[in-house]
Amino acid sequence: MSLIQLTNVSKSYTDPGSGARVPVLHGINLSIEAGESVAIVGPSGCGKSTLLNILGTLDTPDEGEIVFDGESPAKSTAKQLAALRSQKIGFIFQLHHLMPQCSVLENVLLPTLALKAPPADAVSRAESLLEQVGLKDRMNWKPAQLSGGERQRVAFVRALINQPRLILADEPTGALDETNAAALTDLLLQLQKSSEVTLIMVTHHRAQAERMGRMLTIHEGSLK
Ligand SMILES: Nc1ncnc2c1ncn2[C@@H]1O[C@H](COP(=O)(O)OP(=O)(O)OP(=O)(O)O)[C@@H](O)[C@H]1O
Ligand SMILES: [Mg+2]
Repeated sequence: MSLIQLTNVSKSYTDPGSGARVPVLHGINLSIEAGESVAIVGPSGCGKSTLLNILGTLDTPDEGEIVFDGESPAKSTAKQLAALRSQKIGFIFQLHHLMPQCSVLENVLLPTLALKAPPADAVSRAESLLEQVGLKDRMNWKPAQLSGGERQRVAFVRALINQPRLILADEPTGALDETNAAALTDLLLQLQKSSEVTLIMVTHHRAQAERMGRMLTIHEGSLK
C-alpha cells in the first residue's frame, strides 16, 4: 500500500480582484511509496507549495481524493487531522517558522506538546539530534542569534522530533548558499535512508532535486 495516494486531484483559487476561479492543479494522480525520496520542481507560482500542502493535509483539494496511510483526510475531523499531522508528518518551511521568543531547544520541543503523551525522552532526543547537526552548543540561543543555515538545521531537527513517517520540506535550502544547501540535503537524505522516512522536497536547486530518488515536475497544473 502506498503511503500517500492522490487520485484526480484538482485545486483552484479565487482571484481576489475579479472573483474568477484560477486553476492551479488539475487531474493530479500520484502515489508515494513509504521510504521514497521525491523532489517537486517547476517555476514559481506553478503550484508546488499547494501540492505539498495537500500532501500534508494542510489544504484540501476541490476535487479528487487523497488517502494518507490508509486514512481519508476528507472524512476526518479537524482533531483527527491535527493528530495525524503531529504524529506522522514533519514540516520544514522555506522561512523556518521558528518562534523568536523560544530558545533552540524549546523550538525543537514544540511539536511534542501537540502529542497526547509527550515522550519522556523528548529532551534527550532533542539534544542528541541537535548534536548530530552540530548545534549542541547553540541549544539555549534564540533564532535571531543564529545564521540562516543554523536556523534551517533547527527547523530540520524540529521536524524530526516526533519521529514522523513523512518529511515535507518546502524549499528548505532556498535561503542557503550551495555549500549549506548541499549539507542540509545530505542530512535529509541520510535520515531518509537510515530511518526509512519518506521525504518530499520542493526545491529550486536543480542539483539538490537530482539527488532525490524521483523528480516530479509541475507543468501547467499537471505532473510531468
Ligand atoms: N490562498 C491563496 N489564495 C489565492 N491564490 C493563491 C493562494 N495560494 C496560492 N495561490 C496561487 O496559486 C498559485 C500557486 O501557488 P503556490 O504557492 O503553490 O506556487 P509555488 O509553485 O509554490 O511557487 P513558489 O516557487 O514561488 O513558491 C499562485 O499563482 C498563487 O498566486
Ligand atoms: Mg512555494
